[in-house]
Amino acid sequence: MSEEQLTQTIYSSLQTRVTKMSTEKANEMAPQPPRTSMIGLLQYIGEPLAALEGITDKHGDIVTVPIGTEKLCIIANPKAVKQVFTTKASSFGKGHLQNQYLGRIVGNGLLLSEGDYWTEQRSKIQPAFNRERLSQYSDTVAELTIRMTNDWEDGDVIALDKAFQPLTLQVLAKALFGIELGEITDTFSRTGHTISSRFDFTELTTFVPEWVPIPKHRRYHRAIAEFDDALYDLLEDRRSEFEATDSEGSPDDLLTMLLPTCDNETIRDEVATILLGGHDTSALAIAYTLYLVAKRADIERQVRDEIAEATDRKPTLETLEQLEYTENVAYEAMRLYPPAYSVFREPTEPVEIGGYTIKPGTTVVLPQWLLHRDARWWDDPETARPERWAEEDDRPDYVYFPFSRGPRGCIGRDFGMIEILGAVSVLLQNYDFSLVDNDPVSFAPALTLQPEDDLEMRVRSR
Ligand code: HEM
Repeated sequence: MSEEQLTQTIYSSLQTRVTKMSTEKANEMAPQPPRTSMIGLLQYIGEPLAALEGITDKHGDIVTVPIGTEKLCIIANPKAVKQVFTTKASSFGKGHLQNQYLGRIVGNGLLLSEGDYWTEQRSKIQPAFNRERLSQYSDTVAELTIRMTNDWEDGDVIALDKAFQPLTLQVLAKALFGIELGEITDTFSRTGHTISSRFDFTELTTFVPEWVPIPKHRRYHRAIAEFDDALYDLLEDRRSEFEATDSEGSPDDLLTMLLPTCDNETIRDEVATILLGGHDTSALAIAYTLYLVAKRADIERQVRDEIAEATDRKPTLETLEQLEYTENVAYEAMRLYPPAYSVFREPTEPVEIGGYTIKPGTTVVLPQWLLHRDARWWDDPETARPERWAEEDDRPDYVYFPFSRGPRGCIGRDFGMIEILGAVSVLLQNYDFSLVDNDPVSFAPALTLQPEDDLEMRVRSR
């Protein structure tokens, strides 16, 4: 069956399903759009961001949406988001959809593991993110950013959304695993890209079960196999080195912390989680922060002044901690263009959220994309106003969570901020960036919030 025929078949089956489910009684569930609107929902297939906006605009900020055989509950209400992340967090797991889609890639690593095993792994990994280590990581960010720009020529046009993917991969590999990725950076970067585009939600084939042998799935399975081969080679080398040296001679990094107590499969899952979960998100956050700087002369001036005042050399952790305005620009970039644009959970038991009962089997969607731009909480939401982060405000909590919140919040939050501030500082010390096109930017959401077209900038040496 061709991809086109398959798309047509899925479309028809979705239509049947949506019509059927919409006639069910809503009883205690969060409200479900009425039948006519459900059919209207089909217009959104392939446009997940417009769908989120359209559905909640029409039907409220807690709404049940049946899609195919799945039932989603979109929650764009801050009090209810807080319940899911904190007071009722113990009634939720990562859920069957995330396991089905991401399990093969990240296995039982931190992102998907649950219960006591997750607690144990998180406490083994957490020390890798303490302050002393963050200070070393900021040096790595600065060094590798400088090294990346050695290939840039004055006047080059660079696709920013792609340019920082190899950088953030190399930073993670070097800082956390003591690995110089060197030539295999391209393998990881390419496979990371193939894996991410498997989840391009603007394509209907993304909803096709993974066992169906369409070309996109074959590429995806090959990419995972290539990624695994490269990863296991690295792990075996490091384990042999580790076993051949006494513990004092071993490097002091996260990999060395895990080697004595974890087998290669366990470490593979944690390393894959960190590499795949940590590099694309940070690379996009760097790109979108620079996009705001290039787009707005007022923001650029204040960021440049602040960086120049903090240092004229390679930035250190102490330098980065002085960059309050620049940090607020990064917060605005992640408000408007959150690299992770939705968080997903599933109840493990019936649970009351925002006055409705949500049952196991329903995937809860907590969309940063909506909460970060909601005019009920944000003044002039579509405009980047870094100063809003320095003003008094009465916004409810839980309207902003680019790194998620609660016990399952991002372990790499501080690391990610160091990458953004470190890379942006080094780049602005050495270059001017100007937009070539692509303004305003439009999106093709995949695993992360990818721009639809390359985010191209012309770079000029300073
Ligand atoms: C701007 C950069 C980043 C963003 C926006 C981001 C976003 C997120 C989000 C939204 C989650 C929660 C997912 C959920 O609740 O289901 C998460 C979890 C996670 N992130 Fe990040 N992340 C970033 C950088 C990083 C970095 C640099 C690393 C690694 C050094 C990392 C490693 C992880 C891990 C391991 C988890 C799972 C944590 C757990 O469940 O215990 N992230 N991230």
